[in-house]
Amino acid sequence: MCGIFGYVGTKQAGPLLLEGLKKLEYRGYDSCGIGTFDDGQLHVRKGVGKIDEVEKTEKISGVPGTTGLSHSRWATHGGVTSTNAHPHTDCQKSIAVVHNGIIENYQELKKELQTKGHRFTSQTDTEIIAHLIESQAAGTLAEKVRAATLQLHGSFALLVISTNDPHTLVAVRNESPMAIGLGVNEFFAASDVMPFLEHTKNAVFLEDGEMAVLTKAGVTFMDVKNGTILSKLAKTLDWDSQSATKMGHPHFMIKEILEQPAAIKNALVQDPEKLDRFVTLLKQHADVKFVACGTSRHAALVGRYAMNQLSGKSAEVYIASEFSYFADQCTKDTLIVAVSQSGETADVLVGLRKAKAKGAKIASLVNVAGSSIDRESDVCLYLNCGPEIAVASTKAFTAQLSVLYLLAYTLAGQKNAGIAHLKEVARHAADRLPKWQTQTQKLAESWTQHEHVYFLGRGVNFPVALEGALKLKEISYIHAEGMPAGELKHGTLALIEKNTPVILINPHDYTFSDTLSNGMETKARGAKLIGLSDSANEAYDEYIALPKMPELFYPLVAVLPLQLLAYHAAVLRKNDPDRPRNLAKSVTVR
Ligand code: F6R
Repeated sequence: MCGIFGYVGTKQAGPLLLEGLKKLEYRGYDSCGIGTFDDGQLHVRKGVGKIDEVEKTEKISGVPGTTGLSHSRWATHGGVTSTNAHPHTDCQKSIAVVHNGIIENYQELKKELQTKGHRFTSQTDTEIIAHLIESQAAGTLAEKVRAATLQLHGSFALLVISTNDPHTLVAVRNESPMAIGLGVNEFFAASDVMPFLEHTKNAVFLEDGEMAVLTKAGVTFMDVKNGTILSKLAKTLDWDSQSATKMGHPHFMIKEILEQPAAIKNALVQDPEKLDRFVTLLKQHADVKFVACGTSRHAALVGRYAMNQLSGKSAEVYIASEFSYFADQCTKDTLIVAVSQSGETADVLVGLRKAKAKGAKIASLVNVAGSSIDRESDVCLYLNCGPEIAVASTKAFTAQLSVLYLLAYTLAGQKNAGIAHLKEVARHAADRLPKWQTQTQKLAESWTQHEHVYFLGRGVNFPVALEGALKLKEISYIHAEGMPAGELKHGTLALIEKNTPVILINPHDYTFSDTLSNGMETKARGAKLIGLSDSANEAYDEYIALPKMPELFYPLVAVLPLQLLAYHAAVLRKNDPDRPRNLAKSVTVR
């Protein structure tokens, strides 16, 4: 994971890099650092903690110079220490490197370099890159970086500066994202476009095996393997830099939760030609496999259900990290539907590449236009919900559901009816959100003592149980399990005791009476039953009312109070809901 951001231009790099880096903090936030070139030498400051904390203690933005690079870390190799924080330098302190990814052959390279006399100070895989560049024969920084890169195995996005090539920033991409921002007399390189969006809307996305050499005069793109110069097209970004601010809310997460009525509607605005192409691919392929992780997988489970109910089309849903073990079964009759907010999740990318190699076609849903999954797909629909900054995914989930319902309705030849239903759902969601805010905050207040919570649902509501549990655990750190209600008595019921909270996702649909019976079974063992339904029942100790709507759409509204509940529980427990411990938003390592 990790976020990297570099700058070459006429402004002081330190403050600009600090501001940009904060927009990448969702990618990792255990330590951070900034390195610049000025007056013939490198200046590196770094430390452990979130960016604001490190800035306070180390004044990392105070490094002088107009060329620099920065990093926000999510540790993979080496503990969370100041020494292991990036940037890393070579023996002479003439080269500084920041890196996102994993160098698989770093141990072999390190041994070789040590034999040649290189001295290492950190436990990271990244530090070997600085030494490997240092060990190259004479040449420009770009030539040395290229030669060093050819020896690296693994996934990496790199930024490098050096005292020997002042005011040059070299960027390399292999299996980790890298966007280049094209300004006027200033250029940027970053893990995604957010850090430079307020400076320029023109971006070029590097592909695997490509590098860029940035100077104040411009950017040269090159193929890493043979060094040939590439001409690449710039893309105009349509995201608004304001949408990446909290806009008066205490956290990004609550802002994004409250944006969902708009997200449901905006997701419906799809390019008709791409929507048709997607649906045609669904019709043409007998074997449809959804591949996704975490929250995106929960959306895919609802999508599979909606498609099956509306058009009879069946599909399988795979956890992306497990899919690789089944990818050999793909053929030219397979359609992979990749669902991903970031469009960069490594497990999804690996899976779709394996499937592609077997002749499968790829159709995807992503939020980040220009992301790797977008570029590697035969057709890609965008979620249109604007940047999602909080680590816990909320508005991307509802936007994914909205596009998946749209696809299911279009596949069934009922596109307009689907759009009308979804707009109605968005209206209901907007009406109910204020009430749910107060209700869930109160409920969370009564939960400070609980360490285990169970979420139960059936049919189309089962993925909502999974999602409610995932949200709660990732930001409140309360242990939670979501499961099909019918599965409870096959084991987990043993864990229910007096006052254990059980949340029943129980709209008055075809699952109602069976789910209620399962709730009663937990109540008989002392559980505190919280009913999420459009039909009150005396069995519920707490009742969160849902609006009435067509059965298939309950997941879109039922998930909202569950997100709010997780948010309030996290805040009450004094956790930062935007930056949960140990997690990062864009999971670009396997
Ligand atoms: C949970 C969450 C993660 C992501 C998962 C996939 O709140 O955000 O579970 O859903 O890491 O990420 P994307 O959708 O970017 O592929």
